[in-house]
Amino acid sequence: MPDALLSVRGLTAGYGAAPVLQEVDLEVAPGSIAAVVGANGAGKTTLLRALCGVVGATAGEVRMDGTDLRGVRTQDMVRHGIAHVPEGRGVITELTVEENLRLGHSWRRDKADGRKATAEVFELFEPLARRRKSAGHQLSGGERQMLAVGRALVARPRLLLLDEPSLGLAPKVTAQIMALLRRLRDDTGLTVLLVEQNVRSALSIADTGVVLSLGRVVAATDAATLAADEDLRHTYLGF
Ligand SMILES: Nc1ncnc2c1ncn2[C@@H]1O[C@H](COP(=O)(O)OP(=O)(O)OP(=O)(O)O)[C@@H](O)[C@H]1O
Ligand SMILES: [Mg+2]
Repeated sequence: MPDALLSVRGLTAGYGAAPVLQEVDLEVAPGSIAAVVGANGAGKTTLLRALCGVVGATAGEVRMDGTDLRGVRTQDMVRHGIAHVPEGRGVITELTVEENLRLGHSWRRDKADGRKATAEVFELFEPLARRRKSAGHQLSGGERQMLAVGRALVARPRLLLLDEPSLGLAPKVTAQIMALLRRLRDDTGLTVLLVEQNVRSALSIADTGVVLSLGRVVAATDAATLAADEDLRHTYLGF
């Protein structure tokens, strides 16, 4: 895949002496959704953290559109078009919905587009529009998750890194978020790296899938093939 938007080669990264990720290779085509699945502790969250520099890499390279991201500081990733929605959501609970969204675009010069992007998020997530003056701590779990995704979207990323967006959400809200991701991919060409426990949902909207086990990639192919591979599912995904 010569024209990958995100290209990861031999990435080895972790928290201490013993690395969690071992020589991970990964390619994500522009305008596609790649699902990253695997058991608890497999290294999915660590992978997203390593991609945006929160966790240090000891070897390998991470390129986006050919630019080496290893020299980019975490706080500058968003300027390179990468938005990360971390596990556990990361909404600032003392701030209102509007204030959280403003944080997502305040660094951008184009203030008018920031307001436009915010209006678009309110269109995408109706409940947020109704609660725009509410503080983060007053929101339901689903609303907080919408806000976390919305805050990433107002930055107008090219690459969205999502860590377990369905965690704790009702199946209906999960389905809405998955449908939204598919729509953003189809309508705006957004590229998504989606970490999910909800493997069926994730593979149903993804173009490609990567299975991680003990920090290594054990399978990487198109999502439909992964979903149909019973051996792989039994061995690594537990269903
Ligand atoms: N801050 C940390 N310091 C040290 N080790 C960590 C830290 N965070 C995670 N680990 C370890 O790294 C490994 C991978 O964890 P990671 O959170 O990436 O897994 P995961 O695939 O996201 O799991 P889950 O599905 O439970 O979210 C685990 O063995 C975990 O204990
Ligand atoms: Mg995780």
